[in-house]
Amino acid sequence: MIPTRADFPPGFLFGTATSAYQIEGAAQGGAGPCHWDSFAATPGNVAHGATGARACDHLTRYEADLDLVAGAGFDIYRFSTSWPRVLPEGAGAPNAAGLDFYDRLVDATLARGLKPALTLYHWDLPSALADLGGWANRDTALRLADFAALMAGRLGDRVWSWATVNEPWCAGWLAHFEGGHAPGLRDIRATARAMHHLALGHGLSLAALRASGVGEIGIVLNFEPAFPAEPGEAARAASLRYEPGEAARAASLRYDAVFNRFFLGGVTRGHYPEPALEGLGPHLPPGWQADMAAISAPIDWLGVNYYTVKRIAHAPGPWPNWAERPGPGRKTDMGWEIAPMALPDLLRWISGSHTGDLPLYVTENGMAAPDAIVMGEDGSEIRDEDRIAYLSSHLAAAREAIAGGVPLKGYIIWSLLDNFEWAFGYDRRFGLVHVDFESLQRTPKASYHALRRMLEDAAP
Ligand code: FCB
Repeated sequence: MIPTRADFPPGFLFGTATSAYQIEGAAQGGAGPCHWDSFAATPGNVAHGATGARACDHLTRYEADLDLVAGAGFDIYRFSTSWPRVLPEGAGAPNAAGLDFYDRLVDATLARGLKPALTLYHWDLPSALADLGGWANRDTALRLADFAALMAGRLGDRVWSWATVNEPWCAGWLAHFEGGHAPGLRDIRATARAMHHLALGHGLSLAALRASGVGEIGIVLNFEPAFPAEPGEAARAASLRYEPGEAARAASLRYDAVFNRFFLGGVTRGHYPEPALEGLGPHLPPGWQADMAAISAPIDWLGVNYYTVKRIAHAPGPWPNWAERPGPGRKTDMGWEIAPMALPDLLRWISGSHTGDLPLYVTENGMAAPDAIVMGEDGSEIRDEDRIAYLSSHLAAAREAIAGGVPLKGYIIWSLLDNFEWAFGYDRRFGLVHVDFESLQRTPKASYHALRRMLEDAAP
């Protein structure tokens, strides 16, 4: 059963999230090109060669989309600002139409009684900066801070909360080590530099936002609790009980260090974890230690994106010597194991060992699921029972964390709309609202209606 609002502490906030490149329509409104345009234009990178050129056409339909957010009874609307829409060359002269769009978006959010939660960087790096080396180039971090100051100057009087960077692990590791996101590199030196410069980009834009006088500044990190993979069938048959080997244990600790502790450690302690430095250390830019003070300057909240856990085995070859193994739990359409029971421990660990009393928000949680479209009495009805079950179990996990003393202040669902799911194009649907990518018609799914009923109970 989906919990009700009344099951959470008074003032606990609920929201839903989107990001600029995934919904706006990047080819419209005078935006400059970004590295996701060229990544998507390169055959083999994105399913069916899809791009964000039109996406959900949110740029012209944002009013109706915000009606959907408000109509469900959410408190927060989390969105991102497209850097190339505002600064088509990455720096220099702004595109007035881009700035005006975010001005209108924030006003329209507030007009509906919603709290605008802005993320500055959700991966759409202007091509002009990608040409100069992108995140492997330290200057990109300085340019992000300039963008932050520009946005704070324009919107600082109205935005409720500011996130500097969304999921730097994806923009750093996944994009430069695994090649799965723009710019699609597989190079450890570029990875180490990109990860550090993303952390620095956070630190410098945090400082720029503070200097502009805005408050409620944080960063959004993604977490995947990593467990040593069970041995394969043959090994299991040969032993009487399950005992993960030392090598799998060590591999899962390396994974944990890179995925979960690199940015968390940098931002909250001014240190990168040792098992990550073993591989990345030799490739970090000279003098990186001098940046750690800026990277670890105090923040006002931390965003936790949580979808799944990972089972990690040892793999031969050079560092990081790990391999992902499928876990025993049910999987979403992304192939991600559904593991709500790991969320309370994760939140307890983050606050217990890193953030203390700092307010935490689950800034993304949700699932990709194929929709069942059923013809109901008044038109088509979109059934997504799996998503309702996923969200119910994770909301219950959030309650458990709160009961255990975690200062969790809100829970934000990914995503309002089906959208451009990065390398998966339009093939993976995360929306509470179905989007027909031909007609662009929006249809709220059963999960949207279930949440609306849940949120109707006693507003905060
Ligand atoms: C997160 C991203 C978001 C979306 C979800 C499914 O990693 O922040 O843009 O792609 O995953």
